[in-house]
Amino acid sequence: MIHKITERKKDHLRIICDEDVRYQQISAGFEQFSFIHNALPEINLSEVDTTSEFLGRRLKMPFIICPIGGGESDGKNLNRALAQAANSAGIALAIGSIRPALIDKSVITTYAVARENAPDIPLIANIGAVQLSEGIDRKILKSILDDIGADALAVHLNPLQEALQPEGDPSFRNVSKAIEILKDTLPIPIIVKEVGFGLAGGVIRRLFKMGIEWIDIAGAGGTSWSRIEAKRIAEPYKKRLANEFFEWGIPTVSALLDAVKVGGLKIIASGGIDNGLKFAKAIALGAALAGGAAQFVRDWCLQGAQGLSETLRLYNDTLRHVMFCTGCKNLKTFRSNSEIIKRLT
Ligand SMILES: Cc1cc2nc3c(=O)[nH]c(=O)nc-3n(C[C@H](O)[C@H](O)[C@H](O)COP(=O)(O)O)c2cc1C
Repeated sequence: MIHKITERKKDHLRIICDEDVRYQQISAGFEQFSFIHNALPEINLSEVDTTSEFLGRRLKMPFIICPIGGGESDGKNLNRALAQAANSAGIALAIGSIRPALIDKSVITTYAVARENAPDIPLIANIGAVQLSEGIDRKILKSILDDIGADALAVHLNPLQEALQPEGDPSFRNVSKAIEILKDTLPIPIIVKEVGFGLAGGVIRRLFKMGIEWIDIAGAGGTSWSRIEAKRIAEPYKKRLANEFFEWGIPTVSALLDAVKVGGLKIIASGGIDNGLKFAKAIALGAALAGGAAQFVRDWCLQGAQGLSETLRLYNDTLRHVMFCTGCKNLKTFRSNSEIIKRLT
């Protein structure tokens, strides 16, 4: 069982590195918005402050590397590289599903490597909603989270991925209840996320009503899990079924605009954010943090640690320059500011 899961994780990393599995028709939607250039910003570029707080720790910019790896040796190397890059960039880091560690605790080192290399930043562990509803021993879960040094636990909702995955488990009955119970028993916050098909307004409101404060909309427009799983499926009919869902999902911007209507909710916007300008737009449209996954796997495959650092530096510089050219000194004035960003008709 553990071997199958780690092999699957390896397949996912290889496919992201070697093949184009992005949406071809659905866009995340950031091109619908444009910043309003301010030729009289009345501030200096050096005054722009991109810092904020997340889970009680300081961030140099409001960005998170979304859950990717863990469980297997490739995941350990990747988590180490991501942790070093994230710690020096002063951003948050989420690690991949801890399901393998629930089966075999010896693989915990592939996750713990993240905190060892990122002592200063918010670190988020990850688990699938299906594993929760199957029932997890709370003591074991708690000891894994302690070993990892996690500041929060992200729970991923991935019904379509489980349904298409050859070894998936599409059992989503009682998932809401399981999340609610976990929220009430865990000593660290819970973040509920999708994996790239997006959270709809109705789902977001249900989660908020349950007391979930943090969500990651993980919308469509970036990584398409239907395309990834189709690459792994051998059986022709099941491959055809996965093909039917290549363009399925709620675009990131559409999910973000629905989420910001829920006052008090804290939003991470991810899904197809693969450049600095999309990152800046996500924040201006109301996200507390923006995030990305596949871009960092590609950077790592192509350029290793240097690729990761350079992309994060580019994101920070782009945000700073956007804030300067829209006359916003800090994120308080930049976030959710309809004076600086407009919808193109
Ligand atoms: C190789 C890979 C592995 C992933 N593993 C997980 C995971 O274990 N748990 C999870 O919640 N999301 C996982 N994701 C989903 C991402 O966290 C993210 O929600 C999704 O890829 C959309 O972001 P993107 O368009 O920037 O890739 C994974 C993504 C990639 C590319």
